[in-house]
Amino acid sequence: MTPLLRAQDVVKAYSHRLPHDTPVLRGVSLELAAGEFVALVGPSGAGKSTLLHLLGGLDMPDSGTIELWLDGRCYRYGELPDGERARLRNRAIGFIFQAYHLLPELTALENVMVPALLAGLSWKQALQRATALLERVGMRHRAEHRPAELSGGEQQRVAIARALVNRPVLVLADEPTGSLDSANAALVLQLLHELQRDFATACILATHSPEVARAAVRQLYLRDGRLSPMAEIA
Ligand SMILES: Nc1ncnc2c1ncn2[C@@H]1O[C@H](COP(=O)(O)OP(=O)(O)O)[C@@H](O)[C@H]1O
Ligand SMILES: [Mg+2]
Repeated sequence: MTPLLRAQDVVKAYSHRLPHDTPVLRGVSLELAAGEFVALVGPSGAGKSTLLHLLGGLDMPDSGTIELWLDGRCYRYGELPDGERARLRNRAIGFIFQAYHLLPELTALENVMVPALLAGLSWKQALQRATALLERVGMRHRAEHRPAELSGGEQQRVAIARALVNRPVLVLADEPTGSLDSANAALVLQLLHELQRDFATACILATHSPEVARAAVRQLYLRDGRLSPMAEIA
């Protein structure tokens, strides 16, 4: 197995919570192989979003280590200056959120182009990649539309294209179907699967729904600040 991501003994508390409160994450360890599709399951408030933020380097744990392998090198987040961590994130990781988080003033196409431009691609390269991805997610005909002119399912498809534009090794999807009706949710899940297969991108899908989690090959259950394989719970 080619390792991609490893978290060891990750602890995270929010400092403005009560001083004697137990941390949200109380020693979380996990390993993810390149190209693997894993569901992170747990009830609302269990700490799924918190963990995804840490795994994506958007926030730092109180203790524990998180490492990401890229091009044969191992990057330990805690040892990277903020700027370097941000560059690594932009290059290696795609994020998908429940509320899409598209920029409202930009068209669908521009939204997909932004991370590519930030990564240093030329306008022409970014345009080509973004157009191809919009085609891939079935949204090319909506390229010039702004988010407000798109349905939730359409916005999430644009967000998926945006997450993939820098050809990430890892996609972190936080309740990506949480705001969608069941037909659109199924479409988005199918798309995530196809893209993970076609681009060999690993994916961690956070969801409170055991049914959505079944779409993944492996399930990890987050409860009481710790992770366990789904089988140990059932
Ligand atoms: N920025 C924050 N400041 C303080 N508490 C937070 C913050 N983010 C999350 N929490 C708390 O941490 C716990 C876990 O939240 P979260 O990671 O969002 O869980 P989930 O995504 O599983 O619903 C909750 O009790 C939540 O209220
Ligand atoms: Mg959440």
